[in-house]
Amino acid sequence: MLNSLQAQPEDKIIRLIEEFKGDNRRDKIDLGVGVYRDSTGATPIMSAVKKAEKILWNRETTKSYTKIAGDESFRAAIVSLTLGHSSPSDRIASIHTPGGTGAVRQAFELTRLAAPDARVWVSDPSWPNHLSMAKHVGLPIETYRYFDQEARSVDFDGMMRDLASANAGDVLILHGCCHNPTGANLNRSQWLELREQVAAKGIIPLVDIAYQGFGDGIEEDAYGVRTLAEQLPEILIAVSCSKNFGIYRERAGVLIAVAESAKASDLAQATLSHLNRQNFSFPPDHGARLVTMILENEEGLRQEWLHELETIRVSMLDLRARLSAELRQLTGSDRFGFLSSHRGMFSLLGASRTQVLEMRKRAAIYMVSDGRINVAGLNKASVAILAQAMVKAGL
Ligand code: LMR
Repeated sequence: MLNSLQAQPEDKIIRLIEEFKGDNRRDKIDLGVGVYRDSTGATPIMSAVKKAEKILWNRETTKSYTKIAGDESFRAAIVSLTLGHSSPSDRIASIHTPGGTGAVRQAFELTRLAAPDARVWVSDPSWPNHLSMAKHVGLPIETYRYFDQEARSVDFDGMMRDLASANAGDVLILHGCCHNPTGANLNRSQWLELREQVAAKGIIPLVDIAYQGFGDGIEEDAYGVRTLAEQLPEILIAVSCSKNFGIYRERAGVLIAVAESAKASDLAQATLSHLNRQNFSFPPDHGARLVTMILENEEGLRQEWLHELETIRVSMLDLRARLSAELRQLTGSDRFGFLSSHRGMFSLLGASRTQVLEMRKRAAIYMVSDGRINVAGLNKASVAILAQAMVKAGL
């Protein structure tokens, strides 16, 4: 059997992690995978998380199973963080999944069960795993225009025109905030306009929200998803705790399904629990426990976490402003001004694959082959090194 396997396409982000590790140059700079790094290049454990771990270590008396859908208090805390009061609780079903990726995967599995002919609309460009997971699950895929390469902002007209050919029941993947990889996001009036089109056509949004708190703020970043949830009959939401709690390896995420009625939500809940059981059984609990303790503000941990998150957010904005200023000085133009208006960890620099490889070869700077940088991988010193390498590479 194993001899007959076909080689699978490599994931460019996972591959880049390995390539970076294999480079022996001491001054190498990692702007690849979306992991927050402080000014020393470390990915620290947030102090609120560390404190929650200590409390948990003392308190936890069993490692027996939780619930197949995951612990209720965790799911309730995440639903509240993401949706606020935008949807009535009796229309909400949810499962704890291994990370936000697990939530997207379960959303696809749910779609395959409920509507196998539904097409999944993915932004062009998007996080590569959106496309490859939808393909893996066997769902038909369509792409919609998202990014204006010239203006380096959202091509909203193109997006709306492409979505005009979506069918009722098609699933539309949206990035809740901090679009990956472009860094360009819908503004508030665009979210409202999009909601009208989605409602009129009967499209089901699947909002992937993995960076809440990294863009404009914890509440501000939930504007889009809450706006949709307030009025649409159905919406799926994949939430990740990996980035905003810095618990990447703990795999804590939630898939939320807002259904049309309480009855439909009960059926969705039972189906989601079934999907957990079929795919991996009980979800991992450790990360979810920590997140729950923090969000429930045990010993003031919520405030501490919010403060840390804000520090991270502001530091990324500062790095964006520095890079854009450095490039303004080097090029005598404002063509990299978009870096400071983008939000979140990522921006697409506009570098060709050749330019990306040239920067890697000459300056040991690692970014994804499409020219995506993780801004959090920079520090005050490496901003200048990147800016110089970009100009040398002809950007
Ligand atoms: C990224 O885009 O770099 C992150 O979301 C990590 C991943 O799993 O790809």
